[in-house]
Amino acid sequence: MAEPTRVVCPGSFDPVTNGHLDIIERASRLFDEVVVAVLVNESKKGLFAIPERLELIAQATSHLPNVSVDSFQGLLVDYCTDVGITGIVKGLRTASDFDYELPMAHMNTHMSQVDTVFLATSHQFSFVSSSLVKEIVKGGADATGLVPDAVLARLQETLAP
Ligand code: PNS
Repeated sequence: MAEPTRVVCPGSFDPVTNGHLDIIERASRLFDEVVVAVLVNESKKGLFAIPERLELIAQATSHLPNVSVDSFQGLLVDYCTDVGITGIVKGLRTASDFDYELPMAHMNTHMSQVDTVFLATSHQFSFVSSSLVKEIVKGGADATGLVPDAVLARLQETLAP
């Protein structure tokens, strides 16, 4: 029998958006197990602390039984090797995402056996990023539909003018 397919959706997730969730949900239909892994980056604090990012992702993915949440430090390929993950899943919104992601995919394959699978982000989320969502909430605009409701509430508490 074939080994179960175990992949990672890595990122900063500061915070998770509906664009991320689109990719996570679709990955969960394609692969046996999906780990959403949040990068712990000591040199970049971010808006939300890592435990809160993990909690918000866990809440938003609680309906997906084959999705789990974790954090990692250092190289993604080392994390993958440590936990037995053979594939990385990333969403592509635009050509500039592809230009940014392709060298990382090649470098990760150069360093390890871990391959990257790109999914085209659904068109309704092609303009959504964590940084733009934070910017518009800070400016007083409504981000309903761009992030899960629990994330929207936390963004409004934290950033809204
Ligand atoms: O959500 P982001 O910030 O675009 O995610 C980027 C992330 C975390 C996927 C990427 O920076 C990463 O994999 N970092 C871990 C360090 C690493 O492995 N660097 C070498 C990449 S070839």
